[in-house]
Amino acid sequence: MADKIYMDNNSTSWPKPPGVAKAVSEYIEDVGCNLNRSGFGTTCVLNRKARSCREQLAALFNYPNFMHVVTTPSITFALNTVIKGLLSSGDHALVSGMEHNAVTRPLFQLREFGIEFDFIPGDSAGRLDPASIAPRIRPNTRMVVTTHASNVCGTILPIREIGAICREKELLYVVDSAQSAGVLPLDMQADNIDVLCFAGHKALLGPPGIGGFILAPELAARIRPLVVGGTGVESEQDEVPDALPMHFESGTPNLMGFYGLCASLKWLNRQGIERIHKKEQETYRSFLAGMQQIKGLRIVGTQDADSSLCVLAIEVPGLDIGAIAYRLDSKHRVITRCGLHCAPWANRSLGTFPKGTIRLSPGYFTKKSEVTLTLAALEESVAYARRRKLVDR
Ligand SMILES: Cc1ncc(COP(=O)(O)O)c(C=O)c1O
Repeated sequence: MADKIYMDNNSTSWPKPPGVAKAVSEYIEDVGCNLNRSGFGTTCVLNRKARSCREQLAALFNYPNFMHVVTTPSITFALNTVIKGLLSSGDHALVSGMEHNAVTRPLFQLREFGIEFDFIPGDSAGRLDPASIAPRIRPNTRMVVTTHASNVCGTILPIREIGAICREKELLYVVDSAQSAGVLPLDMQADNIDVLCFAGHKALLGPPGIGGFILAPELAARIRPLVVGGTGVESEQDEVPDALPMHFESGTPNLMGFYGLCASLKWLNRQGIERIHKKEQETYRSFLAGMQQIKGLRIVGTQDADSSLCVLAIEVPGLDIGAIAYRLDSKHRVITRCGLHCAPWANRSLGTFPKGTIRLSPGYFTKKSEVTLTLAALEESVAYARRRKLVDR
């Protein structure tokens, strides 16, 4: 499908860097075998690959011990493990007003078990003022969970300041880095992050099916794994081994995921996060300038490349945004996403609930010519909707 213009990197990044597809197929075609379960020599090869993946992730997030990097099938799985594992009946948590359902749904589910949470409200561009945290802390508040950057409009949250407050008030700080890891610097130590959750398939540019979390063993000891079963070692025990990362990795891991993610991390490392971020900022600025010329669009978010990732969320007051997104795809082959983007609470914060927005999320590989074509396609699609009276209902 090379004819498409892909503007949906927030859903999953595409294309992947050179070497990722080859690495995935290397596992399928040449390596085979299961980790810790078969083929002595191959198990060593697989363990080395998994280790390299963990080492690269630990280095990227400045965490001193790669054995604390736990992989899961997704960041949703990671957030569920951590949030459900660290909160008990009677506890209270705080979350930003920009969270994805991967954070809010586990917390809504936990209400049934006597766990409460509150939102830390931000402004209508999704910005959060760290000063609004302290007044919401209760004697039973245990944890703060925030995204690093909004998947709806790209707004970057001040995680270092939030982390410092959490440290001072002795609260756990859990960060959802689904959109930022791979584009923005993250430093678990300087940012005072207790648990960092990551998604392999977004800006880390790996394949889908691998995510995870990084945490200290003291915290791990407090979390009941969501899933237990075979680990390939210590099979005589009726309980899952305590050692990290195995404690949370029962069942065959995503071996192709390790291969693909290892390759994308190597590529990221060679390019450097700073360079990637700079290029995405340029793309964002070009999009902003072009969109400001199109009649009838309202751009949601900070509209500033220093406080936002390269995400363009737009409303078209009076017109049906679903019809416009459909036109973009069917006539122009521009792939966007339309609606709430799995983040109803973020849309409430931004004033875009319940309709949501058309979200364009270019990536590192977006070409200048694609920006130009997308802007022209957007202008045509909006004009088409206006001409055909495809109005909002
Ligand atoms: C901020 C944020 N958190 C969590 C998720 C969940 O990611 P996944 O579906 O890969 O588990 C997403 C996905 O879009 C996201 O944007």
